[in-house]
Amino acid sequence: MKREMKRRILVTYNMFRTGYSELEKRYDVTFPPEGQESFTYDEVYEMLPEYDVLQSMFNFPVDRKLMERGLPRLQLISNYAVGFDNIDIPVATELGITVTNTPDPVIEPTADLAFGLMLAVARRIADVDRRLRTPDALNWTLLENLGLSLGGKTLGILGMGRIGQALARRACASNMNVIYHNRNRLDTRIEEKYNAVYTGFDELIRTSDFISINVPYSEETYHMIGREQIAMMKPAAILINTARGPIVDELALAEALKEKRIWGAGLDVFEFGDKVSPEILACENAVVTPHIGTQTYDVRNEMAEYVCRNIINFYEGGPVARVNNPAGR
Ligand code: GLV
Repeated sequence: MKREMKRRILVTYNMFRTGYSELEKRYDVTFPPEGQESFTYDEVYEMLPEYDVLQSMFNFPVDRKLMERGLPRLQLISNYAVGFDNIDIPVATELGITVTNTPDPVIEPTADLAFGLMLAVARRIADVDRRLRTPDALNWTLLENLGLSLGGKTLGILGMGRIGQALARRACASNMNVIYHNRNRLDTRIEEKYNAVYTGFDELIRTSDFISINVPYSEETYHMIGREQIAMMKPAAILINTARGPIVDELALAEALKEKRIWGAGLDVFEFGDKVSPEILACENAVVTPHIGTQTYDVRNEMAEYVCRNIINFYEGGPVARVNNPAGR
């Protein structure tokens, strides 16, 4: 009797193994060798023709050259992220390759970080922490180190998907008013849940005390917050970005922060990836974190389980978080 070949899965990153246990029981799974954080693009390029599935991370570029190299065997790219701007989706669709993502496990941790950054900037947590550690850099008097309150302020959410709504829930708990702008207006039942008011884009920029970016990155959202939008913001506005860096014109933002034309910014993502502009780093009113929106022990494992479930269900049936629907798949 002919033995069926095990499906082969190529995982680009040496992630914790806990979430991969079901996948490893069923299929032949390759991780980078011990001690190597990640496969390089060139290594994946060499190996890919021997694999059915590529399990990529959000910072791993998957372009036409790589996908064509994977054919005819490559059927699925299971991306470890809700965002999939690292993958050329139209090309994947054209080549008949299904792409999946991990929307569920990222919602709460990303909203937690966005809310944490709001607090950190408004209450100057990072700024005073830095100065407290520096001899004679901080004055303890009651009228120094003043911040801004959240209660009673307006949070404008750009992109009221599930992360935006999870942030709205946190804002309601802090007695903030929520306004939002979205491609489509939400069902009134959802609006009522957060007391959220739908506004035009410009109105949100002009009237918000806090602005949180929660839209996906695409050509359409590149520099959605540019010089013109920053100029429209309130002088005490705080901008939060936990989505993708290039949505904001980083140098225009740095200028506004330096000149104190807005109060501050909380940034988990940067226009030029991990090359944070020195102009941003020089601003003490910016709180910066290294793309840690989902970086908790729990969520790393939950996302791993989710990418694996997408792969298992793709082959064996069950829900799959598809990003595209290539014909015939
Ligand atoms: C992280 O950035 C994600 O897209 O999940």
